[in-house]
Amino acid sequence: MRKKIVAGNWKMNTTVPEGVELAKAVVAASAEVPAEVGLIIATPATHLCPVAEVVKGTRVELSAENCADKEKGAYTGEISAAMVASTGAQWTILGHSERRQYYGETDAKLVEKTKLALANGLGVILCVGETLEEREAEKHFDVVKAQTLNVLDSFTAEDMKSIVIAYEPVWAIGTGKTATADQAEEIHAYIRGVLAEKFGAQVADDTTILYGGSCKPSNAKELFAKPDIDGGLIGGAALKAADFIGIALSY
Ligand code: 13P
Repeated sequence: MRKKIVAGNWKMNTTVPEGVELAKAVVAASAEVPAEVGLIIATPATHLCPVAEVVKGTRVELSAENCADKEKGAYTGEISAAMVASTGAQWTILGHSERRQYYGETDAKLVEKTKLALANGLGVILCVGETLEEREAEKHFDVVKAQTLNVLDSFTAEDMKSIVIAYEPVWAIGTGKTATADQAEEIHAYIRGVLAEKFGAQVADDTTILYGGSCKPSNAKELFAKPDIDGGLIGGAALKAADFIGIALSY
């Protein structure tokens, strides 16, 4: 049975002391959340070490927001998967639309990043999602399929045990404009079908597919009630522990 996960993506928010306080507040409130719901917080790279200390021995898992497409060496400013893993983090987000849009993240780079993340024992939250123009042109199914397969073609059913997909329609991120539960379910079910075609029904059934894009306590319940929506990747609302936990309590 696939795992339900609520993950917070802090993006480029909070200073280190603020992030440590936020992590402490999430840990403090996490006991209320049903045990079968996994909780992950993805912090800026600067926060991973101190936040790892805060979440150590708790149910809250830690994620990076990105890692490098190279193993190590002369790549100034980059942070390798091995470095991320050495902080105590168990996960990394990869392929977020903001990285695709602003930092030239291509599917080819994502293959390398995913390989390195898995090789270093990290779970991967792989983000896919169409832009508003693509949805209006009714290309959203094709775009999401291509983003999913362009990366996952290089991986095996065994690798899929460490990979979570996050469907994040770009037009819903930070806009307050959530996909309706039906719109999200339609794509989630489609992605699961793509996974079934590639890896078989069992892998498709076991893969957690998260929804991201203006998810908040007031709309999470309706989204999470859908059969193919296995949780959320939360941006803005993850910056307040009460809202983040409120979303996780929607299960
Ligand atoms: P918002 O929840 O702020 O729309 O962000 C979603 C997101 O991009 C999570 O990765």
